Amino acid sequence: MRTVHVPLGHRSYAIKIGAGLLARLGDECARLKLGARCAIITDTNVGKHFAKKVFNSLANAGFSPVLIVVSAGETAKSLKTVQSCYDQLAAHRLERKSFIVALGGGVVGDLAGFVAATYLRGVAFVQMPTTLLAQVDSSVGGKVGVNLRSGKNLVGAFYQPRLVLCDLDTLNTLPEREFRAGLAEVIKYGIICDAKLFAQTERNLPEILKRETKVLSGIIARCCEIKAEVVGQDETESGLRAILNFGHTIGHAIENISGYGKFLHGEAISIGQVAAAKLSHKILGLPEREVARIDNLFARAGLPAQIKLNSARRKKLFAAMRLDKKVSGGEIKFVLPQKIGKVIWNQRVPEKLIQQMLDEIGGRQS
Ligand SMILES: NC(=O)c1ccc[n+]([C@@H]2O[C@H](COP(=O)([O-])OP(=O)(O)OC[C@H]3O[C@@H](n4cnc5c(N)ncnc54)[C@H](O)[C@@H]3O)[C@@H](O)[C@H]2O)c1
Ligand SMILES: [Zn+2]
Repeated sequence: MRTVHVPLGHRSYAIKIGAGLLARLGDECARLKLGARCAIITDTNVGKHFAKKVFNSLANAGFSPVLIVVSAGETAKSLKTVQSCYDQLAAHRLERKSFIVALGGGVVGDLAGFVAATYLRGVAFVQMPTTLLAQVDSSVGGKVGVNLRSGKNLVGAFYQPRLVLCDLDTLNTLPEREFRAGLAEVIKYGIICDAKLFAQTERNLPEILKRETKVLSGIIARCCEIKAEVVGQDETESGLRAILNFGHTIGHAIENISGYGKFLHGEAISIGQVAAAKLSHKILGLPEREVARIDNLFARAGLPAQIKLNSARRKKLFAAMRLDKKVSGGEIKFVLPQKIGKVIWNQRVPEKLIQQMLDEIGGRQS
């Protein structure tokens, strides 16, 4: 088992990464001296595979858990589901010392974390991420929240978990497409701050795609370390944390203009990262050879770099980029790599170059 520390003063916590951790949850919570009553929040897909094991682990360690199952998918990240969770917590008389376990992907983590941040003005919570994306990204850093009809993640909080347990065994039941989408975030960490991680991902891609525990645990731990380091320096995204958004300005805009489910988040940010690398070649002189390495790694991971755009969709994409929260004073700012392993944030890009980049990712329009 590997452990990564997230350094946030008295709110510091550990991320533990390894196989067989679901069964150890109870003992880990006992060690943290968490209260006896607790709730496991999970979704229908994840609950089917793992709820029993997690429930038994808590019960065997002397806790009295209740199980709350929400529907699977992004729609569960809503105030309606939050309300239903509050009602169930209150019905089971969870109190201030109780805690919440988030068992699932990023949707469950964000939802359960928000419920934990607000129920009785905050109860402890533990993350058990079960998607690759959640293990390397959403479970680390304390951003929790839900969507409104008018947009994603519009209601939320910064609320840190007491512990994150990444059980690599849970990845075995994850659908292939979800797994590959999670890899887009792994590749991102290499590009933004660790050339060695990028090279290791290139080298070990076949083993990673076979989900070999030994290789994966090293890679996931390194990603968590990078995120922990960045969040430790800039918890509330006033500066450095922006680098984690590499590929996301374009990626979010793509998600925005495409119907739900057309592109997974990881797929949208793959297109975004390749596009940003190409922009960077023009603006910061990222060498052609490095652009090709980036492009090639996403392709080998089975991730897209292109999106079909007619002129109407292209206009929409541009407008969506302008609406992204990284825009200030009407200018779209990008995170761009100078070289693999080093990015610059807040980079202004002339509109002409953005239009050229849209030609490249979406096919030239008349
Ligand atoms: N808080 C943050 O910092 C942060 C960062 C990135 C993304 N996010 C959020 O994360 C969410 C996306 O997370 P996600 O990609 O994990 O999606 P998800 O939670 O919807 O999971 C993807 C699908 O896989 C299923 N699943 C999960 N684990 C499984 C397993 N082990 N076996 C079988 N099926 C499994 C789920 O039921 C779901 O159908 C988005 O809402 C996004 O906004 C948050
Ligand atoms: Zn992301």
